[in-house]
Amino acid sequence: MLAAVIKARERNSVLEDAKKARAADIIELRADYLSSFDFKLITEIKRNLKKPVLVTCRNKNEGGIFNGSEAERMVVLKTSIDNGADYVDIEFSSGNKNVDYIIKNKKDAKVIVSYHNFKETPKNIRRVYENIKKTNPDLIKIVSNANSVIDNFKIFDLIRVADNEKIKIIAFCMGSYGKFSRILSVILGSKATYASVGKGKETASGQPSLYELCSFYRIKKINGRTKIAGLIGNPVEHSWSNIIHNFGFDYLNLDAVYLKFRVDKLKEFIEYFKKLEILGFSVTIPHKIEVIKYLDSIDKKAKAIGAVNTIVCKNGKWIGYNTDRDGAIMALKEKMQLKSRKIVVIGAGGSARAITYGLKEEMADVWILNRTMEKAKTLANNFDCDYGSLSKLKEIDYDILINTTPVGMYPYPNRKIVPNNLIRKNTVVFDIVFNPYKTKLLQDAENKGCIVIPGFEMLMNGAALQFELWTGKKAPKQAMRKNVMENLKNAAY
Ligand code: ATR
Repeated sequence: MLAAVIKARERNSVLEDAKKARAADIIELRADYLSSFDFKLITEIKRNLKKPVLVTCRNKNEGGIFNGSEAERMVVLKTSIDNGADYVDIEFSSGNKNVDYIIKNKKDAKVIVSYHNFKETPKNIRRVYENIKKTNPDLIKIVSNANSVIDNFKIFDLIRVADNEKIKIIAFCMGSYGKFSRILSVILGSKATYASVGKGKETASGQPSLYELCSFYRIKKINGRTKIAGLIGNPVEHSWSNIIHNFGFDYLNLDAVYLKFRVDKLKEFIEYFKKLEILGFSVTIPHKIEVIKYLDSIDKKAKAIGAVNTIVCKNGKWIGYNTDRDGAIMALKEKMQLKSRKIVVIGAGGSARAITYGLKEEMADVWILNRTMEKAKTLANNFDCDYGSLSKLKEIDYDILINTTPVGMYPYPNRKIVPNNLIRKNTVVFDIVFNPYKTKLLQDAENKGCIVIPGFEMLMNGAALQFELWTGKKAPKQAMRKNVMENLKNAAY
């Protein structure tokens, strides 16, 4: 069940927002936001949209703005039931007396008894569930803040318990570490997830918009059998991989979904996800090297590179691959042959390893420059390159400059790893940062007459290869590219 949350001060704005909620299965009306609640709104929305209405009225402790007394809040919920609300949500913190009162007076409505924790996901979350269960609600809702990816696992375990006990539960985590749980929990058995009707209209941290959930995650098509894929990284918010892959799945009618996992604890994440049925993962900053030690095996090329950006999960075995090398070399070779070119690679992390490996295969003459010299030295020695600190750049008469660091990436698009005077005229400049599409480095390089290659080219090439590894099907690359470009242009979500 996809719930669209409407928080508006005036009745006209509520009706306007309701029109934007046609994709939802149910409309949650946040009564606490209304300056005065006209209960006729409930039937009006039901009539206009032909969808059930859920009424919620949160006080400040529960993330709302209702400033009347608790008795007045109960009147709002009870009167909503009397005026045709299909569901009401009452917080467990309202106390047993109030919860019992609403349940006794629910008539044909269904009652959700909810628990929110905006700070953390407490260890005793199971006890919270057991206590709510005693009130005998139609649905239990448990939502907590994730301060680490592992907090989500407590919630997923709870969903499993409820499922075994045939108790209807809505559960997920808030915050950037919990955002993926708003989708994954539905696959695991949560009865609903919530969305805003547009950007800026969220009622909780990490709450996606209806557009995002429907277009980028195909929320209405996913179910308990949907295969899971996703990106493992930190940060991940800037990534467009979800748009690319979910469109691809949809295009080929595959029952799979691609999520973005912000992972701070890699070992624990992998241990937990090994219990689930997974199609595969993309791996990004900062996990491309560390992830290797948790895999069952690793493909020859990825082993030689020493970094993994793709995991294929088959028959319980997780196998590491690297599509960065092919993605980058394909993008570069479209502009220039690489043999004997003098190429500067800035950065010495996982991406730099993959690209350098490819450049050496093409017999280029490579310099590695990095903030931490020791890392530049290790990488250079592995692949027989020269190396130095970033200041060495002024001495090198390069043909191609490649930035493999995250400098210039969203949300800091004005940052740049190379000062203007060191961008050499009429060279080729490739930035693996793909968001923004044209980084500051590329804009400045273009102004100097350079041929520029946006990281998006490498991303698309690599993503298509990943897609093929996971699905065994040819990736609809042109359609995927067109779709992501359109979405970026509209930024409608
Ligand atoms: P990835 O797997 O995507 O390559 P990574 O392994 O974390 O990511 O590597 C990131 C690279 O960007 C590193 O070489 C890092 O430099 P250090 O080795 O000195 O850490 C480089 N990098 C990250 N932030 C940087 C910054 N602000 N300035 C310069 N280099 C930076």
